[in-house]
Amino acid sequence: MDINVLGICGSPVKGGNTEHFLKEAIKSLEGVESVKTETITLAGKDIKDCVHCNWCLRKQEVGKFCAIEDDMVSIFPKVLDADVLLIATPAYVARVSGHLAKVLDRLRVFAFGKVYEGKLKDKVGGALAVAWMRHGGVETSLLSIDYFFFGFEMIPATVHHPGVLFGAGGVSSFGGTGKFDPKDKLGILKDEWGLNGARALAGRAVELAKIIKAGKKALRI
Ligand SMILES: Cc1cc2nc3c(=O)[nH]c(=O)nc-3n(C[C@H](O)[C@H](O)[C@H](O)COP(=O)(O)O)c2cc1C
Repeated sequence: MDINVLGICGSPVKGGNTEHFLKEAIKSLEGVESVKTETITLAGKDIKDCVHCNWCLRKQEVGKFCAIEDDMVSIFPKVLDADVLLIATPAYVARVSGHLAKVLDRLRVFAFGKVYEGKLKDKVGGALAVAWMRHGGVETSLLSIDYFFFGFEMIPATVHHPGVLFGAGGVSSFGGTGKFDPKDKLGILKDEWGLNGARALAGRAVELAKIIKAGKKALRI
């Protein structure tokens, strides 16, 4: 049973802390039997706002998800094919980045679309967030991703022991103190506790996806 894992990095910074955090989670799945992974970064991508035109409700066609022609055209089918979505954001004012918010809005095509309505249902979601400060809004950022999972009838993955109650959180300043070291732009790689959480989240998300797929097969749904 193949499990497709899609990581989406919502930071506008290419190769930054959020991308590394997500990649550590994805890397932990390498070599796991029948798991296929792909990571996309939204940095530099042309993604426009959902303008609530409702084209998806009335005119959506097989293979054409949205009326807007931008980089979402290649992202929609990847989301559709995924069994697990690992969505990562930097904490921006204690919630998701604007760039990621645009993507989450555009995924509305899977909530009401004429062809693709309900297609995210039962996919597993894992939220990841990186903040500068320990108490700078990691959890609220995670929750802003979790709300997306709830709204689309997805199954949010959590793990108790590494503190992954709402998703995996990490800090990019040393110890989350807010201290800036100009020589170290990737402080997240020193947050071993946070990285452990990201790996645990990825493992749990795959476990849930396997349970759901096997259950659906057994129940013929
Ligand atoms: C617009 C903006 C808002 C931010 N808001 C917060 C915040 O609310 N709390 C926090 O701890 N850090 C905040 N930060 C810092 C980033 O979350 C932090 O540096 C993160 O590691 C950036 O990830 P990146 O390296 O992937 O860009 C903010 C940064 C920017 C640019």
